[in-house]
Amino acid sequence: MFRRQGVRTAPVAPTIGRGLLGALAAVFVALAAADRAAADEKLARARHCFACHQVEKKLVGPAYRDIAARYRNDTGAEARLTRKIREGGVGDWGVVAMAPNPALTEADARTLARWVLSLGR
Ligand code: HEC
Repeated sequence: MFRRQGVRTAPVAPTIGRGLLGALAAVFVALAAADRAAADEKLARARHCFACHQVEKKLVGPAYRDIAARYRNDTGAEARLTRKIREGGVGDWGVVAMAPNPALTEADARTLARWVLSLGR
């Protein structure tokens, strides 16, 4: 009786183990991504991006979700937005200009560009 049960459950146990590990790994990946997004949003707040932008709604500048949607399939968007975040510019969304952010490092500007683009996924 005891032995038969052992034989039956043995092949199942590793499968459950892998399933649990996979689920745990997925949770950790999701948590890490959420952490990352929260840190990026904090950077945007610290750099006063939210003075002119919101995630969902147009303010002075376009909503971040609208920016992400516009460039969803645009592989050059990350580089262009990185430059625009540092140098500012006008004409892509209307007649109001985005001010330049010369104090922002290239790396931080890239992080912010990636974060904005990630909001469309
Ligand atoms: C003074 C207001 C203002 C601030 C502060 C501001 N933005 Fe903007 N932003 C704008 C405006 C206005 C536009 C639209 C410009 C246009 O039409 O080309 C814009 C456009 C953008 C775009 C889209 C650019 C494009 O070419 O499509 C991104 C990305 C962006 N801003 C990110 C940021 C980030 C990140 C920060 C913080 C470092 C920031 N903005 C701070 C006003 C602002």
